[in-house]
Amino acid sequence: MSETPASAPVPPASPDGRKAPRSQDGTPRPVTPGSQAAEGTYRTQPVSFVRRGTRLQGRRQKAWDDHAATLAVDVPRHIADTSVHPEYVFNAAAEFGRTAPLVVEIGSGLGEAVVHAATENPGKDFLAVEVYTPGLAQTIQKIVAAEIGNVRVVQANAPEVLGTMLPAGTVSEVWVFFPDPWHKTKHNKRRMVKDSFAPLVSRVLAPGGLWRLATDWSAYAEQMREVGASSPDFDNVHDGERAGAASPLTQARLTGVDREQSDEPDTDGGWAPRFDGRILTSFENKAHKAGRVIFDLTFRRK
Ligand SMILES: C[S@@+](CC[C@H](N)C(=O)[O-])C[C@H]1O[C@@H](n2cnc3c(N)ncnc32)[C@H](O)[C@@H]1O
Repeated sequence: MSETPASAPVPPASPDGRKAPRSQDGTPRPVTPGSQAAEGTYRTQPVSFVRRGTRLQGRRQKAWDDHAATLAVDVPRHIADTSVHPEYVFNAAAEFGRTAPLVVEIGSGLGEAVVHAATENPGKDFLAVEVYTPGLAQTIQKIVAAEIGNVRVVQANAPEVLGTMLPAGTVSEVWVFFPDPWHKTKHNKRRMVKDSFAPLVSRVLAPGGLWRLATDWSAYAEQMREVGASSPDFDNVHDGERAGAASPLTQARLTGVDREQSDEPDTDGGWAPRFDGRILTSFENKAHKAGRVIFDLTFRRK
């Protein structure tokens, strides 16, 4: 039987007024820092990630030690080490030393897409939002190797970055590529792209700004399409396109690659062509090799 160490910290009360969990004797129940309870229990929404390894070694550690001070946004924390203090506001002009269109990639993983895009688009600035420490360190390595000055990384829970950290209406594009699918029904609520996420994206986007999404899970793709369609703030740039036989959803249904096989065509469409600014990441490459179908969506902020 495992025991909670006597030194384990006691959880703070939730900022949304909910009570912190208590043991049977009424004393606050301790949580292990970095554990699921520490990350998930005290937020108003379940988080879309499970904290994986945070330790760095070798070149990743060196990249972090040498460059985090300049490339990683120094965020005041709130209730957890991936949390952003609600009063903190990011100043892009001060950070990049110029005013340029800002692209925000949510869940940037190993930084493949954002560093490639930043290299191709020196006139734009990029913010990579990720919780996974080794991914952030690898992104920093790539930024340094590419010798580019237009990317910053931030280690933070994305809804907080969109909800308070970024000033409203200041972002030209938000990218969410291959978010964790949480495909089991009991885990669906942990998906990042859901109805409550759309107002956060719309808050930061300038009018006409684009929200680009990609996934290799057909049920999540349908959910994303629905989230965009039911938001009053967005238009689907490719509304009605790629319906019927041309729809990736029809293809996924016919092949049964990630769902029950069916010959019912997708009559709605609305799928974007592959965004040519999105390079093939190692993550997407694995999906292709497994015969999975890739879905792209683009919504425009009204
Ligand atoms: C499946 S990976 C995809 C990575 C990358 N976009 C790609 O296409 O290769 C999803 C990433 O989202 C990150 N993530 C999940 N929830 C997040 C959140 N709430 N805030 C920031 N990053 C998150 C995970 O740590 C993970 O690295």
